[in-house]
Amino acid sequence: MDGTRYTGPIREAQVFPHGLVAAGFAEDDRLAQVLDRYPAALIDINLYDYQDDGGHTLRTGARGALNGADLLKAIQQGRLWVNLRDVQDGWPELWAAAMDEFSAIQSALPGLKAVRNAGQLILSSPKSGAPYHFDNAGVVLFHMRGRKRVFVYPGDETHLPERSMEQVIALQTTEEIPYRPDFEADATVIDLEPGQALTWPLYAPHRVRNLDQFCVSLSMDFQTWGSRFRNGALFTNAVLRERGGRPRPTDRMARPELAARWAASLALKKAGVMKSRIHDLTRDFEPDAEGADGVRAL
Ligand SMILES: [Fe+2]
Repeated sequence: MDGTRYTGPIREAQVFPHGLVAAGFAEDDRLAQVLDRYPAALIDINLYDYQDDGGHTLRTGARGALNGADLLKAIQQGRLWVNLRDVQDGWPELWAAAMDEFSAIQSALPGLKAVRNAGQLILSSPKSGAPYHFDNAGVVLFHMRGRKRVFVYPGDETHLPERSMEQVIALQTTEEIPYRPDFEADATVIDLEPGQALTWPLYAPHRVRNLDQFCVSLSMDFQTWGSRFRNGALFTNAVLRERGGRPRPTDRMARPELAARWAASLALKKAGVMKSRIHDLTRDFEPDAEGADGVRAL
């Protein structure tokens, strides 16, 4: 992939087999049990409304009072996108199995060395998806149920402007990065089946569309020292830019300069500059297996 921002060990989108489905983690009764006991504070419930022009609006819902089985039914029938965050804390059995799988994938990618892993379990309705965005981390998407189509784009200045990366990393916007329909010509498209894990170059923008089936995936993100330095440098650059500076792009910085900017970012964060401009989202709905789109308004 030409012109990608991070010429790290993952050079292109790659699929690996995994054993999480065979271990039974994606079955209805297992998922219902997990939903019953998962801490409500770690559950995000989103409803996507797609527009004709390819844009979307997002409504955020409350966990509500449904039991696990009914919540699962609402997701299976609606247009919901449910994230169970911090799987490493919320579902340790799944996490342990996933980390074993990650180790195998990591050894197949020479030079890859994760220093921190975290994950979210995504339960998503047949007609839902994730809009164009990037993650400031590496990602392995362990697909466990249903079928989904993943579009991966080059991580260059056209598809991923450095200014936008700064804004997202410094939490100054919830806006996604700019998307244009002609990016599609540059996409690598992968249809994921249960039992397949997908990874892609660090920071590469991507979007996801479910292929008319209820989907379950564990999205594991990881940092390397390279991504940590880069994220810190982007944060420092965001601060400099807000103060009227014109910092050089991080992809023209050598590792010592990135490391120095990462160190600066730790001090800046400690000093509390760049307050997050992302406020708590209001809760507009809660899941309802009988309601339209699997929800009812609050
Ligand atoms: Fe992502």
